[in-house]
Amino acid sequence: MNQIFRTKSLEHVMAETETEGGERLKRVLGPWSLTALGIGAIIGTGIFVLVGQAARDITGPSLMLSFVVAGLACIFAALCYAEFASMAPVAGSAYTYAYLTLGELMAWVIGWDLVLEYAVASCTVAHGWSKYLGKLLAMMGMAVPGVVHEAPFSLHPNTGEVIVGHVEKLKDDQGNDRKIKEVDASGKEREIFDLKKDASGKEVVTHTYLDLPAALVAIAITAILVKGIKESAGFNALMVGIKVSVVLLVIGVGAHYVDPKNWENFAPYGYGGLSFFGHVVWGELRPNGLPRGMLAGAAMIFFAYLGFDAVSTNAEEAKNPKRDLPIGIIGSLLICTILYIAVAGVLTGMVPFGQIDKDAPVADAFARLNMPWFTALIIIGAVTGITSVLLVMMLGQARIFLAMARDGLLPKALTAVHPKFKTPWWATLLTGLLVALGGSLLPLDILADLTSIGTLFAFVVVCAAVLVLRITKPEMERPFKAPLGIATPIIGIALCLLLMFSLSWENWARLIIWLLVGMCIYFGYGAWHSKLRNLPGK
Ligand code: ALA
Repeated sequence: MNQIFRTKSLEHVMAETETEGGERLKRVLGPWSLTALGIGAIIGTGIFVLVGQAARDITGPSLMLSFVVAGLACIFAALCYAEFASMAPVAGSAYTYAYLTLGELMAWVIGWDLVLEYAVASCTVAHGWSKYLGKLLAMMGMAVPGVVHEAPFSLHPNTGEVIVGHVEKLKDDQGNDRKIKEVDASGKEREIFDLKKDASGKEVVTHTYLDLPAALVAIAITAILVKGIKESAGFNALMVGIKVSVVLLVIGVGAHYVDPKNWENFAPYGYGGLSFFGHVVWGELRPNGLPRGMLAGAAMIFFAYLGFDAVSTNAEEAKNPKRDLPIGIIGSLLICTILYIAVAGVLTGMVPFGQIDKDAPVADAFARLNMPWFTALIIIGAVTGITSVLLVMMLGQARIFLAMARDGLLPKALTAVHPKFKTPWWATLLTGLLVALGGSLLPLDILADLTSIGTLFAFVVVCAAVLVLRITKPEMERPFKAPLGIATPIIGIALCLLLMFSLSWENWARLIIWLLVGMCIYFGYGAWHSKLRNLPGK
């Protein structure tokens, strides 16, 4: 019992860091580099891919507001992250901070949960990459065959059940999915998708094997990470430069093609989307039975903001971590929030929401205007941007596995360093394997929602930790103290919970199962092999 609440001391962690490789990492990153790092980790699949489905099926133009709500939740969580990070400016992330402050069990819970944030997010990002690559190849006249461009499973469009294959939908004249009304058993009328049926009246299902490009990109990035990338701030700045320029171009050029009429039906599905374990409290249902509305959209595109905490994993390399980490975390988040709201406005202003493309919405909006060069430019920007996000996310996952294995909570083999490249190659290979399998075999919407609920949970724990520490250890030095006293963590928790309750109960079930599996591993392995347990005097 004592052990699971035992904390590591900051001196201990600092000492561990110092001996790692014989020297500390150089402190070279200033506030600008840290902000650029954050933006590098943030802008990716969310804004280039997920906005399509969100705007079309869940929010309509009120997607702009969804970005405001999700951005607010992130800013409050980020303030808590920054406070946590400044108290322990060492490499690592919420996992390390929790070990320092909340004890081993909570650290394990966060570490295990971060797998959802990093590895499962990487699967989603790999899928998004594959979709944009598919568009690029198609423009060059080389389509990726459908059977190797989709996960073999999908969610049934009308029931939301996981099915093998993809049910084909009928389209109307404008290319929108056709919908029909159905009366359910309780006499309630609801809208469902009109599905293609064969001669015998059975739904037409196409079968696919895997999303091959998603698997290939995961393997390629794993190879790069095993070989070791010079995490040069210069290279990152170039990637960030390319993607931010493309986003600004989309906003600047797209603004000329906005037709305000498209915004008239601002929130076609209402502002809600709140459900409580399957019971809709506020909002309407999508044809597949899942909630929709502005808030449900916020929960979905929350994914687009992930990555700001990557800044804190570079704490060791920050010149003045106590001042610059909060600047990097909050600065990158604010810039992305503004860009996202603008892109959402332009996208829903250019294309009637029902016709927005699901796979590569931003590029498609310009393809409709017959601007092939501009479309190609956007696709190249998106592919570059998404690749850099994938690099940061997979690197982050490998580091978390490494940290947990070093502490004895995962098998020691994961700490193995490659004899030639000096990288944690086993942890990296495990990450690569998980991402290649998950990214190529599981459907995008399940992955994205699972990432969101997992990350929201991690943020709730981080905010709660900051709140608990403010009360239990008020005297502890806090180089960066989040403003507004204990209101900040409380608002952060409330907003994150609000978004969690805007996700379907299936996601809650998946999260709970994930955490239970984690508990079994901890009590079956980690608790017994923990280094802290075996430290002299502990
Ligand atoms: N925020 C990252 C993205 O949208 C995860 O790709």
